[in-house]
Amino acid sequence: MTDVELSDGSLLEIRPLRAEDKAGLAAGFERLSALSRYRRFLSPTPHLSARQLAYLTEVDHHDHEALVAVEPASREGLGIARYVRSREDPEEAEFAVAVADDWQRRGLGTLLLRHLAARAREEGITQITGLVLGSNEPVRHMLETLGDVRRRNAGDGTVEVWLQIPERPLADEQGRLAGWMRAAATGQLDTRLREARGDPSG
Ligand SMILES: CC(C)(COP(=O)(O)OP(=O)(O)OC[C@H]1O[C@@H](n2cnc3c(N)ncnc32)[C@H](O)[C@@H]1OP(=O)(O)O)[C@@H](O)C(=O)NCCC(=O)NCCS
Repeated sequence: MTDVELSDGSLLEIRPLRAEDKAGLAAGFERLSALSRYRRFLSPTPHLSARQLAYLTEVDHHDHEALVAVEPASREGLGIARYVRSREDPEEAEFAVAVADDWQRRGLGTLLLRHLAARAREEGITQITGLVLGSNEPVRHMLETLGDVRRRNAGDGTVEVWLQIPERPLADEQGRLAGWMRAAATGQLDTRLREARGDPSG
């Protein structure tokens, strides 16, 4: 269990997900907007089945790890990050992160990703991959705070991403700055500034 502070000063706990978290996970999923569900599962997903809930919560904390951020007062889960190790390459794992819509943009996704990356490193994983929507700017920004992201178009509006996990993912205090510098280096500074102001049209 780790205490973390968000950019608005909220204090949350991050801990490993347990099999007993099925009801909490189902409730958290029901609160996600349709857009967040689509971005997370890449298909319209109205509900999680009992089978999906079992898969998502009964993790071995080695080849499959999941961390949940909990609000201490309500005990509500506000975000989850997970990795699943690749069968082909034991040093690679697929990641996924989701944060409750009304808790997004306060730094929680980045914190969960960093803690997940640290756990992955402890388990011998050096690279994370994922299939994300090409239009999913938040996930791109979140990944860029951790390192250089390689991308490959995977068709149907999706992009495959790869990221080498830094050796000390929790120690990089300059992560946000690094993300902005990467945006500047790739000519995306204007877009990013507009998005940060909540004005994607410019
Ligand atoms: C991706 C996601 C987990 C990010 O969570 P979050 O808590 O909002 O992330 P953070 O607050 O740490 O923000 C990370 C970066 O993304 C940027 N960002 C967040 N939401 C954004 C938005 N709607 N538009 C543009 N940029 C956004 C932030 O400004 C931040 O960049 P900065 O550090 O340079 O300011 C969240 O948007 C989410 O749950 N989305 C739905 C599921 C999903 O897409 N998962 C990823 C694929 S598995």
